[in-house]
Amino acid sequence: MGRVSGKVVVISGAARGQGRSHALKMAAEGADIIALDICANIASNAYALATPDDLATTARDIEALGQRVEAIQVDVRDRGAVEEAIGKAVGTFGRLDVVVANAGICPLGVRRPQEAFVDAVDVDLGGVLNVIHASLRHLESGSSIIATGSLAAFLRGSVDNPASGPGGAGYGFAKRVIAEYIHELALQLAPVNIRANAVHPTNCNTAMLQSDVMYRIFRPDLEHPTREDAELAFPAMNAMPVGFVEPEDISNAVLFLASDESRYVTGQQLRIDAGGYVKANPFHI
Ligand SMILES: NC(=O)c1ccc[n+]([C@@H]2O[C@H](COP(=O)([O-])OP(=O)(O)OC[C@H]3O[C@@H](n4cnc5c(N)ncnc54)[C@H](O)[C@@H]3O)[C@@H](O)[C@H]2O)c1
Repeated sequence: MGRVSGKVVVISGAARGQGRSHALKMAAEGADIIALDICANIASNAYALATPDDLATTARDIEALGQRVEAIQVDVRDRGAVEEAIGKAVGTFGRLDVVVANAGICPLGVRRPQEAFVDAVDVDLGGVLNVIHASLRHLESGSSIIATGSLAAFLRGSVDNPASGPGGAGYGFAKRVIAEYIHELALQLAPVNIRANAVHPTNCNTAMLQSDVMYRIFRPDLEHPTREDAELAFPAMNAMPVGFVEPEDISNAVLFLASDESRYVTGQQLRIDAGGYVKANPFHI
């Protein structure tokens, strides 16, 4: 028996990065997966998003683990399309137990247009609400909702500062609101035995972090910083001596929150942040 055997899990942003890692981790532990991704670029976001091939690879890898998958290309900003995609896949699988609202963009940079603010809020906040709210009608007692926030939600000024432009402001705002939203949602759903938690990664080794625009944010002193240049600066975020965590580090937390091992864990803001929060904030209750 796997740790999430028999469960059906919907994951947004599942074509690559953390979303793919969550999908494979939970498939390896016995879950069937509804894998959603836009598989297209968003103009204000300086680095490329996932491709249809990426989503197909995720689907193939899930099937290789012996689990079923419904892989659907959909933009989480479109509530109607998200409802349709999830409804169709739940029709096929017959149930839905876990929601992982993970898709996100990080359209940083002062040269990015004002639309970057709107796009960051629409994807990183609106998209999370769309995936969760489209799922709610399918969830029964014992279900688990997990939203991906960011350490940035707890470090005001880390992305929402003039150097990061309007997209940084939108990103920081969206992630802070996710933290508060999960608190309220957990309270509303507790009486019907449905849980809601947030995971908040520090720098994570995915295409979002490993991008030229992010290298410039971490190394404003250089005109054309390389990955090697940026990796010298990444550890400043964290208290532990690492520049970033791996997608699997986040997946381990997501798996725990998805499984019945955490059956009375709700409303948590689970930071997988190598001590980034305690480094930047004094203790408070
Ligand atoms: N990488 C980091 O350093 C870091 C740190 C903290 C939080 N996060 C958060 O982790 C989550 C996952 O990001 P990642 O690190 O795996 O980056 P990533 O860019 O590799 O993955 C994001 C995925 O979301 C998809 N996506 C983007 N917009 C979408 C939309 N409108 N509809 C559907 N899918 C869409 C992309 O195509 C991509 O596959 C995001 O919410 C991000 O904000 C990342």
